[in-house]
Amino acid sequence: MSPQADVQPIDFQTWLTSRVQQVEGMLEHTLPGGDAVPGHLHEAMRYAVLGGGKRVRAALVYAAGEASLQSNAAAASQRIALDHAAAAVELVHAYSLVHDDLPCMDDDTLRRGRPTVHVRFGEATAMLAGDALQPLAFESLGMMPIAPALVVQAIQLLARAVGSQGMVGGQAIDCENVGRVLEAESLQQMHRMKTGALLEASVLLGGIVAGGGSIVRDGLEKYAAAIGLAFQVADDILDVTADTATLGKTAGKDVLENKPTYVSTLGLDGSRELLRTLRDEACAALLPLGPSACRLTSIADFIVSRDR
Ligand code: IPE
Ligand code: IPE
Ligand code: MG
Ligand code: MG
Ligand code: MG
Repeated sequence: MSPQADVQPIDFQTWLTSRVQQVEGMLEHTLPGGDAVPGHLHEAMRYAVLGGGKRVRAALVYAAGEASLQSNAAAASQRIALDHAAAAVELVHAYSLVHDDLPCMDDDTLRRGRPTVHVRFGEATAMLAGDALQPLAFESLGMMPIAPALVVQAIQLLARAVGSQGMVGGQAIDCENVGRVLEAESLQQMHRMKTGALLEASVLLGGIVAGGGSIVRDGLEKYAAAIGLAFQVADDILDVTADTATLGKTAGKDVLENKPTYVSTLGLDGSRELLRTLRDEACAALLPLGPSACRLTSIADFIVSRDR
C-alpha cells in the first residue's frame, strides 16, 4: 500500500483519535502498574501520564513517520517503532509538566482538569515521578525494533532536545526571567528551547524511524522548527484568551506570575500575526513531501487554531 493510499480514506479527526488511542495503549503497557513497589510513586507516574492531554507530540511522531513510511518489508517493524517513539515523547512531556507545575517553578494546582501531581501526591513524590518518567522514555526508545544505528540516533536526538541546551535550558531561562520583559529575540530562543525542542524532536523521530530521504528530512526540519515555536506562541495567547475550564489549567497565570510571554512582548494582535506566519512557513516546508504529509498540515492547523 502506498503512503497516500494509507492516509487518504479517513478524515483528520478520525486519524487523530486512532493515534491517540494507539499511544495511550502503549503508555498503559509501558508504565509499571500502581501495584508495583513503590506503589505511591507508580500511581503518581500513571496519574501524570494517563490523565488526558492532547497527545500532540505523539501525533507528530506518527504523522512524520507516516509521511515517510515505504511499503517494504520493514514497514511493520517501523510501525511498532513509531509506537515506542510516540510513547517516549509523551513520557518526557508528562515529566516536564509535573516539574513545571511544582511550587519552585510555576506553582500550578490544576493540570489537565485535575489537581497537579504535587497537590495530589506531595512534592517529593512529584519530583521523583518526573525523574522516573524520563528514563522510562529512553527505555521505550531503546526497545524500537529497527536498525541499532537508528535507535542510537533517536536516543541522541531526544537527549539533546530535552537537555540543558533544549527543554531544560529553556525552563531555566524562563525561571531566570520572571518579572522581566524580554526582547523578541531572547523570547524566541527561550520558547524554541523550552517547548519547540521537544516538538521538533517528535517530528524528527518519526522521520528517523521511517527512514525518509534528504528531501523529506529537510522538509520535516523546517516544518518542525515553525510548529515548535508556534505551539508556545499559541499557549501564551490561550493563557490570556481562554478560560480555566476549557484549558484544564489555570488561565491568566502568566500575567499573574509576571512571565515573559509573546503576549507581553508583541501583544495579542502581534502574537496572532506571528502564529499565522509560522503556520504558513510550516505548511510551505511540507510541499516537497506531497500528499503523504497531509496529517502534518492538519496538525499545524490544529496547533494554531486550538482552543485548549
Ligand atoms: C503544555 O503542553 C505545555 C507546553 C509546552 C506549552 P500541551 O498543551 O501539549 O499539554 P497537554 O499534553 O495537552 O496537556
Ligand atoms: C511549559 O511552558 C514548558 C514545559 C513544560 C517544558 P508553560 O509553563 O507555559 O506551560 P503551561 O502553560 O504550564 O502548560
Ligand atoms: Mg512554565
Ligand atoms: Mg507552566
Ligand atoms: Mg503556558
